[in-house]
Amino acid sequence: MTKDLSSTLKEQLALNYHIKEKSKEDSYYSRLTTILSSDLNFHQQSSRYASHNFHSFPAKFPPQLPSKFILGLTEPGGIVLDPMVGSGTTAVEAFLNGRKGIGFDIDPLAIMISRVKTTPLKEDRLAKIFRRIVKNARKEVQENQHDLEKQLNTQWDTKTKQFIDYWFARETQIELLALVQQILKIEDESYRTFFQLAFSAIIITKSGGVSLALDLAHTRPHKAKVVFSPNGELLYGSKFLTSGSPRLKVLTKKLRPAIEEFEKRCIQNISGLVNNSSRFIPTEINFGNAQKLPLEENSIDLIVTSPPYASNAIDYMRAHKFSLVWFGFPIEELSEQRRKYIGGEATTNYVFESLPESTSQTIQRISEIDEKRGNVLKRYFTEMSRTLKEMYRVLKPDKAAIVVVGSSTMRGMDTATHQCLAEIGEQIGFVVPHIGIRKLDRNKRMLPSGLKTDLNSQIQKRMHEEYVIGFYKPHH
Ligand SMILES: C[S@@+](CC[C@H](N)C(=O)[O-])C[C@H]1O[C@@H](n2cnc3c(N)ncnc32)[C@H](O)[C@@H]1O
Repeated sequence: MTKDLSSTLKEQLALNYHIKEKSKEDSYYSRLTTILSSDLNFHQQSSRYASHNFHSFPAKFPPQLPSKFILGLTEPGGIVLDPMVGSGTTAVEAFLNGRKGIGFDIDPLAIMISRVKTTPLKEDRLAKIFRRIVKNARKEVQENQHDLEKQLNTQWDTKTKQFIDYWFARETQIELLALVQQILKIEDESYRTFFQLAFSAIIITKSGGVSLALDLAHTRPHKAKVVFSPNGELLYGSKFLTSGSPRLKVLTKKLRPAIEEFEKRCIQNISGLVNNSSRFIPTEINFGNAQKLPLEENSIDLIVTSPPYASNAIDYMRAHKFSLVWFGFPIEELSEQRRKYIGGEATTNYVFESLPESTSQTIQRISEIDEKRGNVLKRYFTEMSRTLKEMYRVLKPDKAAIVVVGSSTMRGMDTATHQCLAEIGEQIGFVVPHIGIRKLDRNKRMLPSGLKTDLNSQIQKRMHEEYVIGFYKPHH
């Protein structure tokens, strides 16, 4: 007779309790518990060192967080994985501390950011290429504007062109195209990608960079209604609009010259370059799905990662396409990719997995009010269950995965993400010794919009917290 899910789960939990008790004296386990229970806020500490600041990225964690677990739980030379690497915070810290970092993501920009941040390059060679790009791009804009205009009309498919024309002033498009053409001439891939990233960083900023968007961090971007050129001439809209409504004043943007912004960004990034050192081990960052990792079982010493929010509150591709289109990614392909992210909204014909009791109840509570949102949450926990199974498979026994998650709400109800993930992990075979709580530094961290407007104060409080779940893989 096959056992039902709840009795299997009870047996698993009893076993986990036994392991928890037995492992209390075990040194790795107790070190893990001590770090999880320590201060994980890092509020007064700067994250603006090494390459951490090369490119903006919503919801990255402070570098001190992965660093604390890497130093406390691995030896030099150890293998540290982040299966949803984002902007590479874990990978950079693994690299700086002489560990081998491995990262995967399904977002092309995340891969680019993480690769550049963990690749040592020669400063003098970069400086030389940088001067050449800027000089030649300026010359092209001055002498060949007509050709650049012509290429702007023929370069992209119709939808991508519509997107670019909507979000970029013609003047900016000309400068950006001149820059891209110079960057794509660089033969050495590592050097070329360094400049591609600096290019992307002048577009994707919280305030929309050199594009006509006013906000790109996490909301649906708004387009500026009144636009002034860098030297103060009115380009679009009417300047009289700004004198009336305060709202329109907010929708006004003064464009910054793209080549000048690129120059400033390159100088800043070159100064944050990670230097070559004999203790560094090359990092491997690749395209890959966290639910099906191309890694051997029992091969990883430590995982430190943070998945997307349960309610798809941060739509990464919405911002990332603003720079990716300039490197030849068709807009439709990018929109298609967006559906594949963990936390995505598409649930038609989706094959869900069975989930443990409390998690199912949380989903049920939301489904009763809104079935569609309930299915979105079910997809999230299904995909996180697959991801946790993969983490369990690739981790060596007696090692841990650290998963940092924020809270989210659906229809005003708490999704209880950290409790559900802990429950799912325990069903897989992990032991969860402790869940650390971090108070978010609202000034530093870009949070999903909507999180500020919750009326329920208990939920509101939790929205300002983040949970650091320790998943320990025992010897069985
Ligand atoms: C919260 S961010 C990670 C931020 C990272 N900790 C940092 O400090 O930059 C979550 C990442 O998960 C990635 N992601 C979403 N679905 C994924 C999947 N199926 N496989 C791998 N990565 C995925 C997103 O592209 C995003 O980069």
